[in-house]
Amino acid sequence: LKTELEKYLLAHTGAESKLRYELDRQTHLQTRVPRMLSGHLQGNILKMFSQMIRPENILEIGTFTGYSALCLAEGLSETGKLITIEINDELADVAQSFFEKSTFAHKIEFIIGDAMQIIPKLEQSFDLVFIDADKHAYIDYYQMVLPKLRPGGFIIADNVLWDGKVYDKRFENDADTKALMKFNDFVQNDERVENVIFPVRDGFSLIRKLS
Ligand SMILES: C[S@@+](CC[C@H](N)C(=O)[O-])C[C@H]1O[C@@H](n2cnc3c(N)ncnc32)[C@H](O)[C@@H]1O
Repeated sequence: LKTELEKYLLAHTGAESKLRYELDRQTHLQTRVPRMLSGHLQGNILKMFSQMIRPENILEIGTFTGYSALCLAEGLSETGKLITIEINDELADVAQSFFEKSTFAHKIEFIIGDAMQIIPKLEQSFDLVFIDADKHAYIDYYQMVLPKLRPGGFIIADNVLWDGKVYDKRFENDADTKALMKFNDFVQNDERVENVIFPVRDGFSLIRKLS
C-alpha cells in the first residue's frame, strides 16, 4: 500500500509510459518478488538522471524484468547503447519481450549471465552504471566498474539504505545489511569519487568519479 507521501509524489510526477505500466503489471503477475522492480517514481528519477547525463554507454547490473533499463535508456545519446546483465534466465523472456516492444530495442544489449564473470570482459568505457544486483557483491561490482567509468561519469547504487537497516544497530549482524553498511563506508572513504545518498524509496547513492 502506498503512503500519503508516495501518493502525493506520484500525483505530481510525470506519467509512466504505457509500456512501463504494463511491465510493472506483468512483473506482479509473473514473478515472486515484484517489489524488486524500480517502479514509477524511482523509474522517473533514473530516466531524468540519464537525460541529464546523455550517456553514450550505460551498464546496468541486475536487469530483473527490465523496468529500470527502459527508464535509463530514455536518456541515451542518439548513438548510445545500454548493456544490462541478469543472472536469472527465467526472467529473460519477460525482459526481452518488453525491450523488443520499446523504441530502444536497437540500443539495448541484454546479457544473461553472472555479472561477476561478464563485467571483466567488457571493453568499452561507461558514462553511467546502475548497480542493482546481489547486495553482498556491491563493493566488488563497484571496484570492477570504477576503472571502466569515464572521469566525471556516474554510478547509481540502489537499496543502500536497505529499509533503514543500515543505521539500525539491531540489524548489524544481518549479512545483506552488513554488506551495504560496508559498501556505504567504502564509497564514503574513497577519494576517487564524490557521493550523495538520496533517501528515496530504498535509498540510492549517486557517485561521481573525479577526474
Ligand atoms: C533488485 S533486482 C533488479 C531490479 C531492476 N534493476 C529494476 O529496477 O527493475 C536484482 C536482480 O539482480 C539479479 N542478480 C543477482 N545476482 C546477479 C549477478 N551476479 N549477475 C547478474 N544479475 C544478478 C537478480 O536475479 C535480480 O533479478
